[in-house]
Amino acid sequence: MTVIESKEPARRVAVVTGAARGIGLAIGARLAADGFSIALWDRDARQLAQAAQALRDHGATVLDVAVDITGRAQVVRALAQSTEALGTPTALVNNAAILGRHGPTAEASMGEWKRVFDVNVFGALQCAQALVPAMVKQGYGRVVNVASIAGKEGNPFAGAYAASKAALISMTKSLGKELAEAGVLVNCITPSAADTDIFGAYDESQRAQLRARLLERVPMKRFVRVEEVAEMAAWLCSARCSFSTGAVFDISGGRAVY
Ligand SMILES: NC(=O)c1ccc[n+]([C@@H]2O[C@H](COP(=O)([O-])OP(=O)(O)OC[C@H]3O[C@@H](n4cnc5c(N)ncnc54)[C@H](O)[C@@H]3O)[C@@H](O)[C@H]2O)c1
Repeated sequence: MTVIESKEPARRVAVVTGAARGIGLAIGARLAADGFSIALWDRDARQLAQAAQALRDHGATVLDVAVDITGRAQVVRALAQSTEALGTPTALVNNAAILGRHGPTAEASMGEWKRVFDVNVFGALQCAQALVPAMVKQGYGRVVNVASIAGKEGNPFAGAYAASKAALISMTKSLGKELAEAGVLVNCITPSAADTDIFGAYDESQRAQLRARLLERVPMKRFVRVEEVAEMAAWLCSARCSFSTGAVFDISGGRAVY
């Protein structure tokens, strides 16, 4: 039997989407600390520029690219810019997502579900489709999809979000199996709640209800810290992760035992 060992290129380059704030920014910072050159992608150009500058001030090699991942041409352009500035990406972190409106699933509009799926599923797929071919060509790559425990368990009043994360988990499994012999490992992580701006679309009382409900179900009784999610993502982006693909990594303070 011939065993193909996939070798990490000397120059490590990561693309992190939704990296202007929250979990994406923490992952970008963690990967920069690990020696990656980082392309931070986000549609919020102003916040992104500030985030990128803060990392540069700490000595990181960072490119900020304003891009809406729902636009195919924008993703292609963002990749061309990132590759020209930093080199071929060795890692992709599909982190950008939206929560969608809080409300009963039985009454949700198709338009709202499509809006959520456009970012959380098709945006992530589009980024993978853009970056994976070059990873396959170089015989090495890591894709990390930031899903959610909502994708395993469903969240009341966030039906589109939960379903989109279930789709992302499934996409991870399919792509992971397809690329298993190509040196490109594809995994996802399923955090429980982190205290970030993602809940900004909810009003105060919806946020309070959600926090209480979410924390009550976490045995550790706290939010996950963005740095904790970044730590797991960093391992999955590295060559230290070498025999896991198509897998779902739990980070839920004991909430999910599967
Ligand atoms: N915060 C949580 O409780 C939690 C729990 C589990 C999983 N997650 C997941 O973690 C990831 C990050 O979440 P967060 O809490 O840091 O969210 P956040 O809202 O703080 O950050 C998300 C970022 O994505 C960007 N973004 C949204 N749509 C985009 C698009 N179309 N193109 C480019 N950028 C876009 C936003 O501008 C924002 O900067 C998401 O995938 C989310 O589903 C979050």
